[in-house]
Amino acid sequence: MELTAAQRAQFERDGFLIFPNLFSQPEVAVLRQEVARLSEVHSEEVHREPTGGIKSLFRVHETDGATASAPFRAMVRTPRVLRPVQQVLGGDVYVYHTKINAKPAIEGTHWMWHQDYNSWSKDGCPTPNMATFNVMLNDTSELSGALYIIPGSHKLGLLESELYAGSSVRLWAIPKQKMIDVLRTSPAPVPIVGRAGTGVLFHCNVLHASGHNLSAEDRWHIYVSCNAVANKPILGENPRPDWVVSRNWYPLPIEDDSAVTKAA
Ligand code: SIN
Ligand code: MN
Repeated sequence: MELTAAQRAQFERDGFLIFPNLFSQPEVAVLRQEVARLSEVHSEEVHREPTGGIKSLFRVHETDGATASAPFRAMVRTPRVLRPVQQVLGGDVYVYHTKINAKPAIEGTHWMWHQDYNSWSKDGCPTPNMATFNVMLNDTSELSGALYIIPGSHKLGLLESELYAGSSVRLWAIPKQKMIDVLRTSPAPVPIVGRAGTGVLFHCNVLHASGHNLSAEDRWHIYVSCNAVANKPILGENPRPDWVVSRNWYPLPIEDDSAVTKAA
């Protein structure tokens, strides 16, 4: 799938692009079955809420490891996902990490306002030439804790962040007063809602957050975060583990667009 000139201009202006129905319902069904299977795994790639529900499942795109999944491996290599990422990052890319945020019904909690590059700059990635493809694995509404994006916020550049430890995941987030100032002077945050299979591609400096899941359904989303091969991190003394900062920085090849259902 090739982005049009208008889509590229929109990504440049807003920092994100939405793709309704990027994956079909049969493909989503295969991927959902995989999330259910992986939810039973106990390994360092699987993070749980204090109540026991799944918070995040990492590293589902490789062929090895406790959370390896053939359908998710196929999904990140489809032209639908990979080609737009190559276009916006300008060349060869690799998967920085994959993460499924499960956000369970009633108890799944918020993600504070942040830029992904807040963390990734600290991992040693030299430039913000990174982006994430988020794909919804079930219908997503504001009630179920949709992602919110502030249009054009990538143009603010990298903002200062502080370690937020208010949820079960540590996150480099924008300090409260700074975030209030940004919200008062920016376009309104856009809720990214849609049918299962909808995708959103966003720049690593775009400000985003999400709220509590107050609905009756789990909010299952996969985040395929990618880096330009030329921007691989210069790792420091104590780098984060491979499941969150991949050392597999070989250019990811584009493969079969119909491989998700074939991998089931
Ligand atoms: C994230 O930005 O890392 C997660 C946001 C979400 O799942 O709502
Ligand atoms: Mn994020």
